Amino acid sequence: MFEILSMAPPDAILGLNEAFRKDPNPLKINLSVGVYKDADGNTPILATVKEAERRLLASETNKSYLPIEGSPQYGKLMRELLFGPTHEIVTSQRACTAHTPGGTGALRVAADLLARKLAVGRVWFSKPTWDNHLNIFQAAGLQVDTYAYIDASGHGLDFAALLAALQKIPSGEAVLLHACCHNPTGIDPTADQWRQIAAVVHERQLLPIVDFAYQGFGEGLVEDAAGLLQLAQPGKELLVCSSFSKNFGLYNERVGALTVVAANQAAADIALSHVKTCIRVNYSNPPCHGAAIAATVLADAALRQQWEAEVAAMRKRISGMRTLFVDTMKAKAPQHDFSFIQQQRGMFSFSGLNPLQVDELRTKHSLYIVVNGGRINVAGMTEGNMDRLCSSIAAVL
Ligand SMILES: Cc1ncc(COP(=O)(O)O)c(C=O)c1O
Repeated sequence: MFEILSMAPPDAILGLNEAFRKDPNPLKINLSVGVYKDADGNTPILATVKEAERRLLASETNKSYLPIEGSPQYGKLMRELLFGPTHEIVTSQRACTAHTPGGTGALRVAADLLARKLAVGRVWFSKPTWDNHLNIFQAAGLQVDTYAYIDASGHGLDFAALLAALQKIPSGEAVLLHACCHNPTGIDPTADQWRQIAAVVHERQLLPIVDFAYQGFGEGLVEDAAGLLQLAQPGKELLVCSSFSKNFGLYNERVGALTVVAANQAAADIALSHVKTCIRVNYSNPPCHGAAIAATVLADAALRQQWEAEVAAMRKRISGMRTLFVDTMKAKAPQHDFSFIQQQRGMFSFSGLNPLQVDELRTKHSLYIVVNGGRINVAGMTEGNMDRLCSSIAAVL
């Protein structure tokens, strides 16, 4: 049976990680995979996560299955974090949430819901978008297409082209929007642009799917929801695929959620019943540990305050590295302008380095970045590696 198969291509980003691991150079630098690193280059376990785990270990009494949609408390806390605890969507109960294995799980369940339960045949994505988006929705049997996003320089948003593209999408189709910290470009719409995007999405009667994988990594936990809140107008439907991989550092615990916002509570209850049928035939019910950690932290006032400070510290470190990178590049390659990196948000930016330069950085300098757009993970930069990093880039420019 298996002889008919030839080797599948490695994942573009995780494959690079593999190559990095095998590189014997002690000075190697990895700016490829989307994982936060601290000032020492480690991916830390948050202190609040450790404390929640300690409490859970002491209080846990069984390892029985969770409900198909996960714990109701987790769902409620997630909705309150997304929209704010007093938002009409939360108080009217016209939204339901399923705890999914990571944001990826949320996207796949959303895709199954669209493909199998709703009459949505096509989903539109920004060009560029996170590579896995297209794969996930295609794997569920949906058609995928793209709308314009970045400008010709590759450093900013082409807002006129974006709006014009949204205006051409046929009514009844779905559009995926990155809530903040756009992956892979780090380019986000402004508050006013979000208002206009939401107006077109509503006018064209498109179904928005908001991918919220980086809440708190842009401007702040509340500030980063500004675009989502523009879409979440009274009576409007939407899907939110969120993740605690990044802002809780719970990458390997697989903690995310699909939130379906329906027109009213009865419609939300029906939507949840269908979400559950999609989940039951996929992974049946979610893993418990990571969601219990997040719920423990979010529900405890003191732990939550401490967590918010931890998220702020991660955000500030990334933003500080953006500044230091721009300043160091200015010193090492003054003829090249990297100031756009400072205007972008979140872990990623398109560096603009071409595939040849990216290749040379890997083979000659042991510096790993993603070929497509020369995407760099700013969170992989440290004060310790910045000089070598910028010298290597200056050498290939
Ligand atoms: C834009 C975007 N969406 C979703 C995800 C999925 O995150 P996870 O499944 O690790 O929670 C990622 C992860 O890198 C991402 O960048």
